[in-house]
Amino acid sequence: LGHKGEAIYPLACSLEFLHSATLLHDDILDGAVLRRGKAAAHIVFSRTEAVLAGDVLLALANQLVASYGDPRLTTCLSEAIMRTVAGEVAEIVNTREMDSSLETYLHIITGKTAYLLEASCVVGALLAGVSDELIKAASVFGLNMGIAFQIVDDAMDYTSASSVSGKPAGGDLREGKLTLPLIYHLESLSPARREALLSDIRSKALSEEALAQLLADIQSSSCTERARVLAGEYAAKAARALEAFPESEERKVLDCALEFVLQREK
Ligand code: FPP
Ligand code: MG
Repeated sequence: LGHKGEAIYPLACSLEFLHSATLLHDDILDGAVLRRGKAAAHIVFSRTEAVLAGDVLLALANQLVASYGDPRLTTCLSEAIMRTVAGEVAEIVNTREMDSSLETYLHIITGKTAYLLEASCVVGALLAGVSDELIKAASVFGLNMGIAFQIVDDAMDYTSASSVSGKPAGGDLREGKLTLPLIYHLESLSPARREALLSDIRSKALSEEALAQLLADIQSSSCTERARVLAGEYAAKAARALEAFPESEERKVLDCALEFVLQREK
């Protein structure tokens, strides 16, 4: 968008600090033991250290953005933080309420993931000082890319071996998360079987054998491919938003990033 100089880098770091903070805290909330193929931080350093490290990164993210002295940037970051937390809360609430509607799922992933990507794009546009129309395009691009990213992430949770994804296999199912492949699987069951399965997942009553069978059933069905198709629709929306930007190397990079989001296996 024509912005020159290095002033963009602390802003980019700020978003990455926020991202890392959410993951440090997320692994504690999820009881996850692996992150990017290594023992999660709370396992290596203890929960206290991991909570506080997340807090420090969150504070640093705020400090960096505040240093620009632009209230629009600070508002953008703080709204993204608020919405990310709200998304995470909605997901935790839903492990008790077990609402398996597509609408609730999209609400959760938009909250916990997409707003962060949206903010990452919007702060860049704000710093470049472009028109409201282009700021909106950056927002639509980031939001839809974020939704596509999380749908693919949730599909991979079923399809990628732990050695590939660097996360525990079938983690979402064990954590009682109603993500898209499971939602599609539930739709294929009779109402009685659906209710029984939801109740077993909610109360964590499934044996290791039953969990393995359920994972295998979902892996051999079309549920994960269907999820990737829906991700493709959100990526297409993001690609359309990108067309508002002037043709440039950077626009090509963002297009490649979209492609990467859809193709990635880890
Ligand atoms: C990963 O989801 C987690 C998120 C996208 C958001 C986590 C947000 C919080 C913990 C609350 C906000 C925290 C701060 C510091 C502001 P996932 O569990 O589906 O993905 P995973 O498989 O990579 O763990
Ligand atoms: Mg997690």
